[in-house]
Amino acid sequence: MNICVTGTGYVGLVTGTCLAEVGHRVICMDHDGNKIQTLNAGQMPIYEPHLEELVRRNREKGRLSFTTDFGLANRDAEVVFICVGTPPLENGEADLSAVENVVREVASRSDSYRLVVEKSTVPVQTGEYVSRTLQIYCRGGQGHFDVASNPEFLREGSAVYDFFHPDRIVVGVDSPRAENILRELYRPILEGQFSCPVHSSCPASSPPTFLVTDVKSAELIKHASNSFLAMKISFVNAVADLCEKVGADVEKVARGMGLDVRIGKDFLRAGLGFGGFCFPKDLQAFVRIAEKIGYDFSLLREVEKINKGRIEVALEKLKKELWILQGKTIGVLGLAFKPQTDDTRFAPALELIRRLQREGAKIRAYDPKAAQKTAEEIPDIFFAASPYQAAEGTEALILATEWPEFRDLDWKKIRGSMVHPFIFDGRNFLDPAQLRAAGFRYEGMGRPG
Ligand code: UDX
Repeated sequence: MNICVTGTGYVGLVTGTCLAEVGHRVICMDHDGNKIQTLNAGQMPIYEPHLEELVRRNREKGRLSFTTDFGLANRDAEVVFICVGTPPLENGEADLSAVENVVREVASRSDSYRLVVEKSTVPVQTGEYVSRTLQIYCRGGQGHFDVASNPEFLREGSAVYDFFHPDRIVVGVDSPRAENILRELYRPILEGQFSCPVHSSCPASSPPTFLVTDVKSAELIKHASNSFLAMKISFVNAVADLCEKVGADVEKVARGMGLDVRIGKDFLRAGLGFGGFCFPKDLQAFVRIAEKIGYDFSLLREVEKINKGRIEVALEKLKKELWILQGKTIGVLGLAFKPQTDDTRFAPALELIRRLQREGAKIRAYDPKAAQKTAEEIPDIFFAASPYQAAEGTEALILATEWPEFRDLDWKKIRGSMVHPFIFDGRNFLDPAQLRAAGFRYEGMGRPG
């Protein structure tokens, strides 16, 4: 199938590349000339496991190309995916101007049928505006368009895996033609007809569900799913605060909860809270959407409040241990909003560093992938070349992102280089007994002292 993907951020680049990998001919288009230049030079604007190899392979096979020319990308396309950014406006609503631009281009520059697919995270009812805009701006007054919603559920750091092994593929359509096109487009995934770029042999798993709904329900599934996952995290973080007050261990509580399949063990990890470019903004957008249609989503406002409160909880723990933070040197292991990505957008680690700097502390930080992007946001900290260098001469060491390499560090060596051997494990990632045995004072989130 000939596919045009507009927007080469996480969603667009991963979707376009993986659709090419399963055999479609994909042209990814973006108005950002630098990004297209980077991609055409064979470099990657983001770090995402397996993606660089896939882009290289599919470009070589002529199935994937990148351009700033919408006309070229749209010329032979049957399907146009809208994957442009929908960043938050001041009031938390999603900015849909880039979506509208794409729709107007499709309308005014297409002289044959197009299935226009929303893949960016958009508020419910956006599809109606897309349909109307297509009719208003279509060439010659009568355009052959269908509009569909195909929300994305990929996670940064495992996006390629998530594309090839989704739990479900949701398509919101208003016509059998649109449904058939999307079913055909995803057939290789639905039938497991692909060579997996992640596994030499894929673990046995049941095929994903191809869930067909109307457009509005599909649009809501995205916001509702992300908000529910964020709520689960804030719930376990609230329980962590309770555990601290009674001397229980949130890790054991979460395990006990998660063994109930109705609850599920995933997304019950207490810590510094959720970050990234999805949960915080999707939560805000969902609250605003509800407000606009007269529903006070107070539950989700509480989820946001609990999440923002994690940084205060962390700061209180550091003050309890170090008393005055002014002039103290603090090491930070992990800057990315989660492991396996270089993304620092709304990263709790960066929010904590800003707070510590406001208290007058000096920061020595290390992250295997995200130091450069952090330096663009917070230039005045010391970026260490290793976790060991980050710990040197510090009075506290914070684990802010649970990169696997932090689990097996030489803690004896680290202890010897610190002024005061205090570990604050903001992700409950380390073994308290092992660290205490190595002579550290250890503090987690919701774990007994
Ligand atoms: C999320 C959704 O998972 C994905 O389906 C959607 O398409 C985009 O948004 P992503 O933002 O990449 O994906 O990250 P995710 O793995 O969901 O983690 C989000 C945040 O929650 C991270 O900061 C992570 O550290 C935090 N988290 C996650 C917890 O604090 N505890 C958990 O148990 C799980």
